[in-house]
Amino acid sequence: MTTRTLREFLADPAGDGKPAARELATLIEAISDSCRTISYLVSRGALAGVLGSAGTGNVQGEEQKQLDILANDELMAMAKASGVVAAAASEEEDEARPITEGSPYLLLFDPLDGSSNIDVNVSIGTIFSVLPARGGEHAFLQPGRNQVAAGYCVYGPQTTLVLTFGSGVVAFTMDPPTGQFVQTGTNIRIPEKTKEFAINMSNMRHWADPVRAYVDECLAGDTGPRGKNFNMRWIASMVADVHRVLTRGGLFMYPWDKREPGKPGKLRLMYEANPMSLLVEQAGGKSFDGNHRILDIQPTSLHQRVSVMLGSKEEVEVLEKKHSAS
Ligand code: AHG
Ligand code: MN
Ligand code: MN
Repeated sequence: MTTRTLREFLADPAGDGKPAARELATLIEAISDSCRTISYLVSRGALAGVLGSAGTGNVQGEEQKQLDILANDELMAMAKASGVVAAAASEEEDEARPITEGSPYLLLFDPLDGSSNIDVNVSIGTIFSVLPARGGEHAFLQPGRNQVAAGYCVYGPQTTLVLTFGSGVVAFTMDPPTGQFVQTGTNIRIPEKTKEFAINMSNMRHWADPVRAYVDECLAGDTGPRGKNFNMRWIASMVADVHRVLTRGGLFMYPWDKREPGKPGKLRLMYEANPMSLLVEQAGGKSFDGNHRILDIQPTSLHQRVSVMLGSKEEVEVLEKKHSAS
């Protein structure tokens, strides 16, 4: 088992003796510091007085929890203190904030993913995406394939940071006595085959036909067309569901459905789908929205939503075939 800390990893991420770009290393360390702080608040829960609603709503019309706001404020303060973020955008804020003019990166984040799980002591997390800063008012509206780094930190039984710079995926577990992030995953690969899927089944009656057909075949088990029994999991924190997919394989879906036909999906392209899609692809998996590779979508607005289906390569391809046949 390697005992490299995150800092040691950043000094030689590719194992070729070359350090990560200095400003990018600064940003990733700063993000990990914020994740440590958020992890501590999460672990103290009611003792820190951080549970429950904040009594406010965000730009998406969702109720904000106290931790959504505390995590957001922590990450915004970190972005400023880091000195390497030109502007930052958050799921919890209406507009992007200019931070340090002339800096190389744009930072985007879902400060607290899985808000409905905060008060019931189930895994939650922070998701982040780093884009190159390019001038102009539409600077943030870059396709996900432009990301120079992406990752998440899951606050579960362990606090685990999972990271990609676009060449493989690595993981670090926080050691509580020291607060250090220690490398515990190298070149993470998603198994290509799986017998596990994740979707909120309560929306079944609203799904599009290809999704319905796919799940019906999974449910038919070993006597159905797939010839194998499937298991199902739904944590309702994307960060925890995707962490399971990265760890042991599986298919994660939050597809478009007929509840609000004009809405492309529930999850957000810039804060959730893009960073998770980069991680999944870098781990050998696939990600699409029913029509396109998610990382190729040209965003038209910061808070844009998207249909998401990602995970084990073979299973995503089964779902892709169902979509192209419909
Ligand atoms: P957030 O807490 O950042 O708003 O995101 C919650 C998302 C995602 O994490 C999860 O997969 C999904 O919402 C769960 O939605 P349902 O409650 O509809 O299952
Ligand atoms: Mn989220
Ligand atoms: Mn959130």
